Amino acid sequence: TGRFTYDPGFTSTAACESEITYIDGDEGTLLYRGYPIEQLAEHGDFLETCYLLLYGELPTKEQKADFDYRVTHHTMVHEQMSRSFQGFRRDAHPMAIMVAMVGAMSAFYHDSTDIADPYQRMVASLRMIAKVPTIAAMAYKYHIGQPFVYPKNDLDYATNFLRMCFAVPCQEYEVDPILSRAMDRIFILHADHEQNASTSTVRLAGSSGANPFACIAAGIACLWGPAHGGANEAALNMLQEIGTPERIPEFVARAKDKNDPFRLMGFGHRVYKNYDPRARIMQRTCHEVLEEIGVKDDPLLNVAMELERVALTDEYFLEKKLYPNIDFYSGITLKALGFPTTMFTVLFAVARTVGWIAQWKEMIEDPSQRIGRPRQLYTGSPKRDYVNLSDRT
Ligand code: CMC
Repeated sequence: TGRFTYDPGFTSTAACESEITYIDGDEGTLLYRGYPIEQLAEHGDFLETCYLLLYGELPTKEQKADFDYRVTHHTMVHEQMSRSFQGFRRDAHPMAIMVAMVGAMSAFYHDSTDIADPYQRMVASLRMIAKVPTIAAMAYKYHIGQPFVYPKNDLDYATNFLRMCFAVPCQEYEVDPILSRAMDRIFILHADHEQNASTSTVRLAGSSGANPFACIAAGIACLWGPAHGGANEAALNMLQEIGTPERIPEFVARAKDKNDPFRLMGFGHRVYKNYDPRARIMQRTCHEVLEEIGVKDDPLLNVAMELERVALTDEYFLEKKLYPNIDFYSGITLKALGFPTTMFTVLFAVARTVGWIAQWKEMIEDPSQRIGRPRQLYTGSPKRDYVNLSDRT
């Protein structure tokens, strides 16, 4: 009709104003509330990052202690919720369980679903930051047939999460502080990324006034796709399929072939037309983790480094500005931490929960907020009359 601007994939449409995250894709810059991701990943911790994303400032010592205490207070899930896991098949993908169980939080925590009440919004936010890791660890334990491990509240966020995933009742389990620091850094790197597909999904769902648990479940569903959060799983599968550096040219040729749908997973980004700053930190973290667990010469890491070298000197990738993104090295790192590939996107969801909540909160608290309602360019049939079934040929 010509009244609307057609912008498939929203490449040039700003859907909101936001003060939370800034990306300069040409420079390869990522800031949370103005702070460079490199500094937060180096000096900060995840809960401090959560506070920053939610409230706009780094916490003072007292604010941090109070926030940590309040999140920790909410880590356990309703016991009835634990039983709900039994309804799933053991071989269900943990992301399927995540979508269902985070959505189900609205059934268990009615007292924090009234979005008009700031106190309820705050409690819902704390509950999700605290309980999503517990649900993720339970999804993993259920999948592998082990008993759930309850949260331990004198541990920090990442250490508690690793313990819930990997401890078993029959033996002692100590979390290696280097691995827990790596996990924490992975959470920081994934915490927010402005108006990506899942965050936009959360905002759109939230714009109708849906409760926050339902909105975050919608975000998790969107994140699952291989072009988004599913890329870390796909990247690791690809590196495994490539197997040896000798086979790289074959896969690079396929990625460049217009008639082959194959893409180099972990390469390219809608916004970054330069090296993804998170990928650099992830690469360093990957080396640290492998060194700590005593892997000297990891075949997958060798394939990844060689693939990166080949792609970054190839005209096709240079011309299209395709650089490694965060998912390129995160798969190897998560595997080294002990997670199976099916858990990779779940870990992304755990980390991104705070970003989704911060964006949802910003939207709800914006007085100019209206329901999101994109328009379309109709390309279907013009008006026509109904034909009775007996008269149709
Ligand atoms: N391998 C080979 N060619 C590629 C790749 C790739 N990974 N990514 C993009 N291209 C080509 C694409 O074929 C297209 O070529 P042409 O202009 O000749 O048609 C051009 O580059 C632009 O690609 P696009 O699909 O139009 O770009 P987009 O902004 O719509 O998509 C993307 C961005 C991330 C979905 C895409 O680069 C991709 O599929 N990458 C692989 C999946 C991946 O690693 N995703 C993780 C993204 S970062 C984490 C997150 O946000 O969740």
